[in-house]
Amino acid sequence: MIYAIGNDHGGIDLYDSVKEKLEDLGHEVIHVGTNSKDSVDYSDFAQKACQKVLDGQADFAILICGTGLGMSISANKIDGIRAACVSEAFSARMSRAHNNANCLCIGARVIGNETAKMIVEEFVKTEFEGGRHQRRVDKITEIEKR
Ligand code: RB5
Repeated sequence: MIYAIGNDHGGIDLYDSVKEKLEDLGHEVIHVGTNSKDSVDYSDFAQKACQKVLDGQADFAILICGTGLGMSISANKIDGIRAACVSEAFSARMSRAHNNANCLCIGARVIGNETAKMIVEEFVKTEFEGGRHQRRVDKITEIEKR
């Protein structure tokens, strides 16, 4: 799978760990930035990474800011993106299993490197269960169309 990673200056400290975990698990990473601690706007990088998913250049997006919140609020404004902001592994797993999340958001000021790696591993290894959950996800898509 291909993962597009976007981060702002607040999220940059987790980038290396997330990239390393994805590559250890055999996945490819596209990094859309930012590459420095200079202040930037998280919504720009949420859009860049999510666009890779919408264009089919990536299968999933992973967004990292200080809290994960600005990234997730931004990403969930984009039609076709289902972003989950999580800070522990169980929610990461359920975001895939029940919500078919295609975007994982984490906060570098909330969790440390090892928790981030556990979250990424659960997200990556979990398949969407479909069934009744598909019906619910379809209703989210209906909300987008209004
Ligand atoms: C940047 O200071 C910070 O506001 C941002 O990384 C994020 O936490 C916003 O939700």
